Amino acid sequence: MPTDPAAKGVKLERYASGSALLLRRVASGKFVAASSHLLFRATVLATLALVFLFAFHYPSLLSRSFSLVSADASSSSSSSGSSRHTSHRSLLMSSASAASLYGGEKWEKEIRRSAKPRRDGGISVLVTGAAGFVGSHCSLALRARGDGVLGLDNFNSYYDPALKRGRQRLLSDRGVVVLDADINDALLLEKLFEAVPFTHVLHLAAQAGVRYAMEAPLTYVASNVAGLVTVFETAAKHADPQPAIVWASSSSVYGLNTEAPFSEEHRTDRPASLYAATKKAGEAIAHSYNHIYGLSITGLRFFTVYGPWGRPDMAYFSFARSIVAGDPITLYADARRDFTYIDDVVKGCVGALDTAGRSTGSAKTGKKTGPAPLRVYNLGNTSPVPVTRMVAILEKLLGKKANKRVVTMPSNGDVPFTHANVSHAAHDFGYRPTTSLDAGLRHFVDWFVDYYKLDTKIAKGAASATGKKPATKKKTTAAMSASS
Ligand SMILES: NC(=O)c1ccc[n+]([C@@H]2O[C@H](COP(=O)([O-])OP(=O)(O)OC[C@H]3O[C@@H](n4cnc5c(N)ncnc54)[C@H](O)[C@@H]3O)[C@@H](O)[C@H]2O)c1
Repeated sequence: MPTDPAAKGVKLERYASGSALLLRRVASGKFVAASSHLLFRATVLATLALVFLFAFHYPSLLSRSFSLVSADASSSSSSSGSSRHTSHRSLLMSSASAASLYGGEKWEKEIRRSAKPRRDGGISVLVTGAAGFVGSHCSLALRARGDGVLGLDNFNSYYDPALKRGRQRLLSDRGVVVLDADINDALLLEKLFEAVPFTHVLHLAAQAGVRYAMEAPLTYVASNVAGLVTVFETAAKHADPQPAIVWASSSSVYGLNTEAPFSEEHRTDRPASLYAATKKAGEAIAHSYNHIYGLSITGLRFFTVYGPWGRPDMAYFSFARSIVAGDPITLYADARRDFTYIDDVVKGCVGALDTAGRSTGSAKTGKKTGPAPLRVYNLGNTSPVPVTRMVAILEKLLGKKANKRVVTMPSNGDVPFTHANVSHAAHDFGYRPTTSLDAGLRHFVDWFVDYYKLDTKIAKGAASATGKKPATKKKTTAAMSASS
């Protein structure tokens, strides 16, 4: 210990100034702590305010899930071009699985009830794309004969989601649940396969449309390639027993072929669009899942399906709208299509489901009882019709002339003609299309006039052409475009 008072003084002085420094540091530390508390509180408050504002402006975001690869995040009723373009962005959005939204005893009870057959020997089918055109008709047909059906659809806005919601209501009225979910949501699919012993999957969910592939190519990859893999993968590894899968390929796989009618043996390596290329890729993917996992897989190549509750992006539908509205329509010279009526296609889908052999492998049980069936069939009408003739029938049915502009077909993904040979489907499950284009379009126009509550003049024109009483509800074509 130092005893010198001077040294002591120096020491005390140092001590005093050290303490003052310490006190200043402590004080400034308190100040920093206090201010960081304040800052923290302010940040929390600001975050809460932002969350509130976000939820207020986008309530739908809280009520549904987003999938990493959903074709479109929006389920609003807008069908504007801009909402379509969100699809590209939503590809990059990571999200919670719908599995976290769906669950619980009540939910499981509901989906089991929907998927439960109501007849002896009935099948239990998971229908993807059930709110779509073909999916809703197939689901209704299966339900009508007593099969169990559970639907799934992401309700994207490639075309008017209100139409998809309308189809969902039709299904709901008949006891069929359609879940709002994406086929890329593996967690949800696993949950479904664990909860329900589906005998079959009718996989129809896809990004359809040939020309839109030039605007949003990745949505095709997301739904038609990644989504297909997710469905096959979960069915192969998480379902016990594995279901038999029937899925929608497309006549577009025949691409630039000129040999007609198109037969399943013909080459399919010259797709004219990315859409066609993704369907062709799907057929190759189906081969690998059949080979490795013993999944029973049937691919159906649909040929230009049309009818009530159809797709507004397809020519017959958009032409009908343009004729009614007095807008010009652009026709490709010499284009011919094997237009196939929806009821005929539904019979083909049901026939394919009924004759699908069992899957033979099971990842869970380790069973592998030999090769499983791998099939592919054309489902067409076998009689191609010039698109100009289709327009003439519409003009007659709608009682109004089209404002036509005929141009040479550009290289935008369309092919000059399609024509199906359906002998394999006829042989294996008695597929025989029976609806002429005149009769099928008459059914379509009846529905179209009624659904859009068209004005009495159009309804009268349609009625005189169809021999029916006109719809009495009066509305203008403006109302039509608002709901479509
Ligand atoms: N309609 C035809 O002329 C035709 C011709 C050839 C092939 N196809 C194929 O038949 C199937 C059904 O076609 P459609 O005319 O009913 O089309 P659609 O667009 O009306 O039906 C497809 C449904 O799948 C849903 N969907 C799309 N991506 C999804 C995803 N990632 N997850 C969940 N749901 C998703 C859509 O919301 C839509 O409701 C499609 O695979 C299509 O490629 C149709």
